[in-house]
Order: sequence, then structure tokens, then C-alpha cells
Amino acid sequence: MSKCYAVASGKGGVGKSVITANLASALTGSGSRVLIIDADIGLRSQDVMLGLENRIVYDLIDVSTGECRPDQAILPCETNPLLHLLPAAQFDRAKALDPKKLARIIHSLRSSYDYIFIDCPAGIERGLRNVLNAGVDEILLIVSPDDVSLRSAERTVQVIDAKKGPRPLLIVNRLDGELIRNGEMITAQTASQVLDLGLLGAIPEDPVVYRSVLRHDLFVHYDCEARNAVMRISSRIQGHNLPVAVYGERKHSFFRRRMKENRRLKEVTPIDNY
Ligand SMILES: Nc1ncnc2c1ncn2[C@@H]1O[C@H](COP(=O)(O)OP(=O)(O)O)[C@@H](O)[C@H]1O
Ligand SMILES: [Mg+2]
Repeated sequence: MSKCYAVASGKGGVGKSVITANLASALTGSGSRVLIIDADIGLRSQDVMLGLENRIVYDLIDVSTGECRPDQAILPCETNPLLHLLPAAQFDRAKALDPKKLARIIHSLRSSYDYIFIDCPAGIERGLRNVLNAGVDEILLIVSPDDVSLRSAERTVQVIDAKKGPRPLLIVNRLDGELIRNGEMITAQTASQVLDLGLLGAIPEDPVVYRSVLRHDLFVHYDCEARNAVMRISSRIQGHNLPVAVYGERKHSFFRRRMKENRRLKEVTPIDNY
């Protein structure tokens, strides 16, 4: 029987989709069968991240309306037969998806997969509520370490609580060790305390992430810091007792002090003085 995870956030652009795709791929490394359901109706992205954008025939809405069977819409990843995608519709709206039908679709697919990840739309509107109403086992809440993201995550937790959903597990993305050492950015551990959520993982800012998105590829296919972080999260999901990585530990080496000085923000003349 599979475990079904919703991947949610408050604000958009914090890395839900890119983490979903890469974490799902990481989990196949130990032989698990993994399905991603792209529930970001109208703003699908998983097809591009997985390089499947030219292969879509049917989508989640077609399955929910009975236009086709799930197996007609689900696409195996070309380079990874254990990773499958049920794509979102490109032009529909969230209201086109009936949560009861989504629940039935998830239920019917559980026996075929070890893990199901639902990539949710950003925000606390209908798209997220649809997924919560469909019934999921766990919620991964993705935040970036800034006040806007944390505040919107707080609102999302309130909505999840009101729907009696499971207490989300936190993943803090885009951490920058230098900014943390400078005291400009909070740590993942602080974000977890602020939100009062268990910390599942921490992922650093890494240029390879965007470069992999540009290539319609996954960053776990490249040797990089973000890959190491996602592999840790994948191990923790599989029950291995690895501690969460800490970014921004204080180390007072000469070179680090120099880097810190170089990265200080320099103020410029206010614009109305020109
Ligand atoms: N750890 C990271 N390091 C660098 N860039 C990142 C990282 N995480 C996300 N990004 C960038 O943010 C963009 C938006 O991510 P995405 O997963 O589409 O956000 P969401 O699904 O939450 O709206 C990605 O295309 C990528 O360029
Ligand atoms: Mg997304």
C-alpha cells in the first residue's frame, strides 16, 4: 500500500514542483515505484521538469471526468521506468476537479505505487482544498527562509488544521549559508520553531537547480549540493535516521570572514537624488 504526500506551500515559487520531481526521482533509487500527480490545474509544470511535455495525450481532468482511464493518461518517465506522471490539465481551472473523484483516482492507484506525490497549486484557495478533501497521508510544506514565505505558510497551516488534515512536515528550501552566518537569513531549524512544525529537510540555494530546469532535466542527475540535500530527505522518508543538514554553521576561518565582508550589501544613493 502506498503513502500519499501532498506538496504544498503558501506563496508560489518556493520550489514545490522542482522538489516534488527530484524527491520522487530520488525515491526510485531504492527500487520504489513513484507517481507524481500534477494538481496545479491550468499551470502544470511537472511535464516540463520531467521532459514529458511532448508526450501528453490525456490529463488529470480527463481521468476525473471519465474521458479516459488513469493508465491512458499516466506517462512513464523516459529515463526512469519507476517514475510516472499523471499530468495536470493545461487550460482548465481548479473547480473542474471534483475532490471526490480525485480521492477515487488516488485510491485506485495506491496498489500500483509505493509513493504518490501530489504537486499542489500555491495558496490556500480551491486547488489546495481539493487535495486536502481528497485525503492524503502526509503534507510536505515547502518554505523559503523569508518572512513572506513563512507568513503565507502559517496561513496554509491554519487552512490544513481547519480541514483536519495531517500536521505538515517542513522542508526549508533556498538556504544560503553565508547569509545565515551574516545574520541576514534564518536557519531551517529556526523556521521550524517559528512554524512549530517538524523539520523534514533543508535544501540550499544551488545554481544547478535552475540549470536543470532550463534543460528540462532533474538536478538529482547532477553532482550538486541540492542533490545531496534531496537524497537526505529521501532517506528520511524511507525511515533512515539521518539528522537534517545544518546550513550556515559558524566557522571563523579567515577566508569565510573575507567572503562575508565581500557580500555585505552596499547602499546606493537614493533614487530622488539623481
Ligand atoms: N534550491 C534552489 N536553488 C536555486 N533555485 C531554486 C531552488 N529551488 C527552486 N529554485 C528556483 O525556483 C524556481 C521555481 O520553483 P518551482 O518548483 O516552480 O516553485 P513552485 O512550484 O513552488 O511555484 C525553479 O524553477 C528554480 O529556478
Ligand atoms: Mg509549482
